[in-house]
Amino acid sequence: MGKQRILSGIQPTGELHLGNYLGAIRNWVEIQQSYDSYLFMADLHAITVPHDPNVLAENSRRVAALYLACGIDLNHATIFVQSHVAAHAELAWLFMCITPLNWLEDMIQFKEKAVKQGENVGAGLLCYPVLQAADILLYEPDKVPVGEDQKQHLELTRDIAARLNYQFGSEEQPVLKLPDPMIRKEGARVMSLTDGTKKMSKSDPSDLSRINLLDTPDQIAHKIKRCKTDSPRGLWFDDADRPECNNLLTLYMILSGQTKEVVATECQDMGWGQFKPLLTETMIGALKPIQDKYHEIMDEPGYLDSVLKQGKEKAEAIANPTLAKVKKALGYLLPS
Ligand code: AMP
Ligand code: TRP
Repeated sequence: MGKQRILSGIQPTGELHLGNYLGAIRNWVEIQQSYDSYLFMADLHAITVPHDPNVLAENSRRVAALYLACGIDLNHATIFVQSHVAAHAELAWLFMCITPLNWLEDMIQFKEKAVKQGENVGAGLLCYPVLQAADILLYEPDKVPVGEDQKQHLELTRDIAARLNYQFGSEEQPVLKLPDPMIRKEGARVMSLTDGTKKMSKSDPSDLSRINLLDTPDQIAHKIKRCKTDSPRGLWFDDADRPECNNLLTLYMILSGQTKEVVATECQDMGWGQFKPLLTETMIGALKPIQDKYHEIMDEPGYLDSVLKQGKEKAEAIANPTLAKVKKALGYLLPS
C-alpha cells in the first residue's frame, strides 16, 4: 500500500508569521516523511477580500520559498500555485450549483469577515468554502491538516462530497472520497504580541502584533521590546490572568526546544527586563536558518519557477482525472 495523502494550503496574503509557522508549516514538516503531501498557495482565495494586484504574484513566490525554507522536502511534497491548476475553479463552479445557499451563510468565518467589510462583501467571500471544498476533494486526500479555525470548512467539504455522491453516485460507487480533518489537539496557538487574548494574525493592522518570518534581527528586537507585558514579579505558564506571559514563555519554550518544566524553572524568578533579551536572542537564532535558506532559494535564478512548474504538473495529474470523474457523473459531454 502506498503512503496516505495529505493536502493543505495557506493564502498568500501579507507576510507569513510565527503563527503560520508554528501552527501550520512546522506540523507539515514534522509529518511529511509519513505522507505524500500536496501543499499550495491559495491565491484564488486571496482575492475574496480586496487585494493589491502588484504584490499577488510575488506573495505566491514568497510563500512557496518559505515552505521550502521551513523544511518542506520535495522528496515528500508537491508545492503548487492554486491558480495554476484550472480544475480548482472549474470544480468549484460545479459544487456551487449543488450547495444550498444557507450552508454558506452559516459559515462563521464568512460572518466574521463580512462584518469587517461592511457593505462591499463580494460573492466570492460567501463562496470561499466551496472553492476550498474543490481544493480538497480534487486530490482525494486521506487527511487535511489545518488549524481549529478551519474545522467548519472541512465539515462543509464532507457535506458537499456526500451530497454529490448521494445525488450522482451510488453507494457501491461513490464519486468523491470523504477526507478526514487532521486538527492538532494541543497545537501551538500563537497569540498577538500586543494582546495575549487575540491570535497573531496577518490581518492585524499593527505590525507590532506579530513576528514575521522574514523580520530582521532589529525588527524582532524592537517588537519584543515593545510587546505587551504585565507587572507581577516572576514568570509562569497557564495563568488565565497573564495571557501575554503564557504566550511569550510558550514561544521561548518552542523556539529554544526545551521542555515546559525546564523553562518554568529557568524563568520563575525572572523579570521582563531579563526575559525579553533572552527571548529576542532565541527568536533571532531560531529564524536565522529559515531566513538564510529563504534568501538562498530566492537568489537562485529559475529554481523556484521550476519547482512550481513541476508542482503544477504533478498536481494536475491528480486533479484533472478527479474533475473528469465528477463531470462524467453530472452527465457532461466530455471532449473526445
Ligand atoms: P491564515 O494566516 O489565516 O491564512 O492561516 C494559515 C494557517 O496558519 C492555518 O492553518 C492557520 O490555522 C495557521 N495559523 C494562522 N495564524 C495562527 C496563529 N496565530 N497560531 C497558530 N496557527 C495559526
Ligand atoms: N481557508 C484556509 C485558511 O484560511 C486556506 C485554504 C484554502 C485551505 N484551501 C484550502 C486549507 C484547502 C486546507 C485545504 O487557512
